[in-house]
Amino acid sequence: MCGIVGYVGKRPAIDILLKGLKRLEYRGYDSAGVAFFSRGKLEVRKSQGKLENVERLMDGSSELFADAHCGIGHTRWATHGKPTTQNAHPHRAGHVVIVHNGIIENYQEIKAELISRGHKPESETDSELFGFLVLEAMEKGQDLVTAVRTSFAHLEGACSVVVMSEREPGKVVGVRNGSPMAAAFDPQGGAILASDAQPILEYTKEVIFLENGDVVVGTEKGLAFFDLKTGAPLDRVGEILDWSVDKIDKGGFPHFMLKEIHEQPAALVDTLNGIMDRVKTNPFPLAAQPGADLLRTAKEITFVACGTSWHAALLGKYWIERFARIPVNVELASEFRYRDPVLAPGALVIGMSQSGETADTLAVIRDVKKRGFKTLGLTNVRGSTLSREADAIFYTSAGPEIGVAATKTFTTQMLAVLLWAGYLGIEHKAPRTSPAGTPNAKPISFEELFHEIVKLPHQIKECLDDPQGMITAVRSAAKQLQNIKGFFFIGRGFSYPIALEGALKLKEIAYVHAEGYAAGELKHGPIAMIDQDMAVVVLAPQDSWRDKTVSNLEEVKARGAKIVAIGGTHDQNLKNLSDFWIPLPAQKDESLLPFLMTAAVQMLSYELALLKGTDVDKPRNLAKSVTVE
Ligand code: G6P
Repeated sequence: MCGIVGYVGKRPAIDILLKGLKRLEYRGYDSAGVAFFSRGKLEVRKSQGKLENVERLMDGSSELFADAHCGIGHTRWATHGKPTTQNAHPHRAGHVVIVHNGIIENYQEIKAELISRGHKPESETDSELFGFLVLEAMEKGQDLVTAVRTSFAHLEGACSVVVMSEREPGKVVGVRNGSPMAAAFDPQGGAILASDAQPILEYTKEVIFLENGDVVVGTEKGLAFFDLKTGAPLDRVGEILDWSVDKIDKGGFPHFMLKEIHEQPAALVDTLNGIMDRVKTNPFPLAAQPGADLLRTAKEITFVACGTSWHAALLGKYWIERFARIPVNVELASEFRYRDPVLAPGALVIGMSQSGETADTLAVIRDVKKRGFKTLGLTNVRGSTLSREADAIFYTSAGPEIGVAATKTFTTQMLAVLLWAGYLGIEHKAPRTSPAGTPNAKPISFEELFHEIVKLPHQIKECLDDPQGMITAVRSAAKQLQNIKGFFFIGRGFSYPIALEGALKLKEIAYVHAEGYAAGELKHGPIAMIDQDMAVVVLAPQDSWRDKTVSNLEEVKARGAKIVAIGGTHDQNLKNLSDFWIPLPAQKDESLLPFLMTAAVQMLSYELALLKGTDVDKPRNLAKSVTVE
């Protein structure tokens, strides 16, 4: 996820920008850069890869940087265009320089218009275009702030920008409209802007979090705020962030679990960077590693896993079968190891385990290896037993997960298996066709799918930041259902594994009885349990299965259950049928919906656990790593 820092004041700007960007590294990025005023002129230094590359660009030019007291910096997570130096921010357009976080949805139209007016964008990014809009507006006589405001009105999509111009040196103008932005007065005189409070806390504890639709202007005198649409001045009051050491460990969140739920966008970014080679143009180039060969040559795949990892494996089956047309089995390790299982010749056995230490999963890997089958591991822990014993290993890069209930390790496992599915689809030249019986599902190409996957971290962040009201809706449902007897989570297709995971999370941390069920199975028994004391969480996003799931909703509604529906933002019919409505943003491909649904069910269990007063991070009777059978 991109990170932004801006500074103007008396201190050395480069130092503040680089330190600030370092504090935003946790968000995940693949290129970085800074822009700053030196003797009234704007200088830009940027590079693909890590911040150290930018630091190196500064070596030996200290006289140029010593008098820099105003600048902006950026870490980029590539969405539009490869992670190259050319695509890195800041972007320059004449006397204007910009950094951007988020997505400009109508960038193709804007680009075509700018080119027709004679501009020559140099990068593949959507971001760069904004600089040209500001440049044009200033050339027409607008001052920087007005130019930023009027240019922003052309953009569709949620994003934030920070802009400077040589025409108005010593001024940093930011807009928040989606991606978060914080600002603060520098007690020594001046102002700091950043994507979150972390780069600011070293200088002051008083931080102002911008609202959507705020413009902030930083100068040596401090900060001023304006309304994006009207330009009217705004009063914004700071919060004192008195973070204890414990809170800093938890990043200001009350629980590790909540922090880890919010870390999912960055964890996905890091996982994607670890598994794929994004500098190559081929749509799904996995980084060259032995595991990729094992996947490619597998005639059949058998996943073995436990708990949440088993749910991620189940999604893997659905995705790999759909995209790559390879047969996939999903096995509970504790069952598989004591059965007499038959594996097809050429089968690949994949052990999935966030800890890499789960006894049952390891036992299966050892056993099938002895029988001559190739094994692959997927784990979050480098050096774990699974990583040492499987023939080859893939890592998720979720970082340490302290909360016992798996959250970010789950979504990163999901991402890994989705990337495998896309990779295998390309390798096996599998046709992209509509699944049987679902003519409405328009398959997108693997190239487009990859493009959409790259946007997922942004979209999950948007859901969690709550501008669309998903979290508010979850919180309200939890409050009103806190005394309900029990829950069913139902879904079909890609939603089914998420229904299982939603129910597991609720049991684990809120100690509430919950069952995940394939929606079509409900009538074969469990419907006998349904009455007005039960809640049914219906996962019915806009996908091939939506209408069938809604029929199942009607069956339980008729029997008095309270309905919590999770579905497409504009699905008015589903909304009308539900007692509690949780809107999900649309996706270009239905296979990506599980990521957003996961955020919703994780938050539902978290909110219910809070209301129940359980120990969210250390639920009773559970262990993070289960090394006994
Ligand atoms: C334990 C954890 C679960 C996890 C399961 C499998 O029960 O509490 O969160 O899903 O083990 O763990 P693994 O490390 O193999 O993914």
